[in-house]
Amino acid sequence: MNTNEYVSLFFDFVNKVKKTVCKVEGDDIIPMHQANQDWDPLDPANRERLLSMTWNVSASTWAGVEKNSTYTQTMAVLIERLLKLTDISNRKLRILSLGSGPGLYEIFLAYWLRSIGRNARMYSLDYSEGMVAFQNGLLSSDLRIDGVRVSALKEAVTPVLGNMEDLRKFYGGMDIVFCNNALQWVADWRAAVREMQLALNENGPRTLVVVIHPNAMVVHVGDKLIERELITEEALFDELEKHRIQPVFQRYMIGNEGTGQAGGRLNRMFFEARFYPLGVSRSWREMSRPVGKATFVKL
Ligand SMILES: C[S@@+](CC[C@H](N)C(=O)[O-])C[C@H]1O[C@@H](n2cnc3c(N)ncnc32)[C@H](O)[C@@H]1O
Repeated sequence: MNTNEYVSLFFDFVNKVKKTVCKVEGDDIIPMHQANQDWDPLDPANRERLLSMTWNVSASTWAGVEKNSTYTQTMAVLIERLLKLTDISNRKLRILSLGSGPGLYEIFLAYWLRSIGRNARMYSLDYSEGMVAFQNGLLSSDLRIDGVRVSALKEAVTPVLGNMEDLRKFYGGMDIVFCNNALQWVADWRAAVREMQLALNENGPRTLVVVIHPNAMVVHVGDKLIERELITEEALFDELEKHRIQPVFQRYMIGNEGTGQAGGRLNRMFFEARFYPLGVSRSWREMSRPVGKATFVKL
């Protein structure tokens, strides 16, 4: 099967989950559920509690909030890049996904890696108990991907409850660290970047795959707003460089429905970056940008 055929299987899987588990049809727009509490969101202690509760109450529907075109574009780029990155040895590769939410990408990637004969194990971490429970539910369900029971992938993908600002239990153990559409939600994203580097095994592909949103994230709690810092490319690259990580590939993903937050066609920014334990040879600022073509996938 070629990449497009796999992306098409992912599209079917996503829609099966949306319809049968989240109870939404196709690209129905559903609001992200809000944790509606009386606590003042402007108090930093409450803010974090409110955000994690928001993820918990959204867990059963989040997979339906994301657009089909975002799923397919992201998966197309992931397959393209992971095809090269995972072709290294017979050793079992360990892949850590951070802020994995409902786990659709991780479950499908575990299926895809197995079907192309790659020996890999995914760990999908999220700090929301609701999200981890949702993913465990999928892994125990009757859902199938091209006839393969999702429950047969349990050995290949392990949901983990944890905060990406503290990855101590994974230090030095991961070949690839992947963070899809989650870094911009983290209270201290710079701490998460430091932890990603510490989680990497120096003897593997030592690669980070990071997909972020081009806008700052905003959640309404009553009439108040919780707003996260906007992660610009420059800020991300500078932070990576501090940890001896160099961007090696980037690509913009263009959406046809806007970003869901502030309109506009730039949907996601995709970055691949490599950790150089002995230090990067040059600053990214002196290099020509490793930009790939914009991706637009419409099924
Ligand atoms: C926008 S959702 C993306 C989910 C998934 N990666 C996807 O693309 O479908 C962001 C996820 O990040 C998780 N998250 C936010 N901050 C986190 C943190 N500090 N550690 C772990 N997970 C976090 C949330 O619980 C939520 O599930």
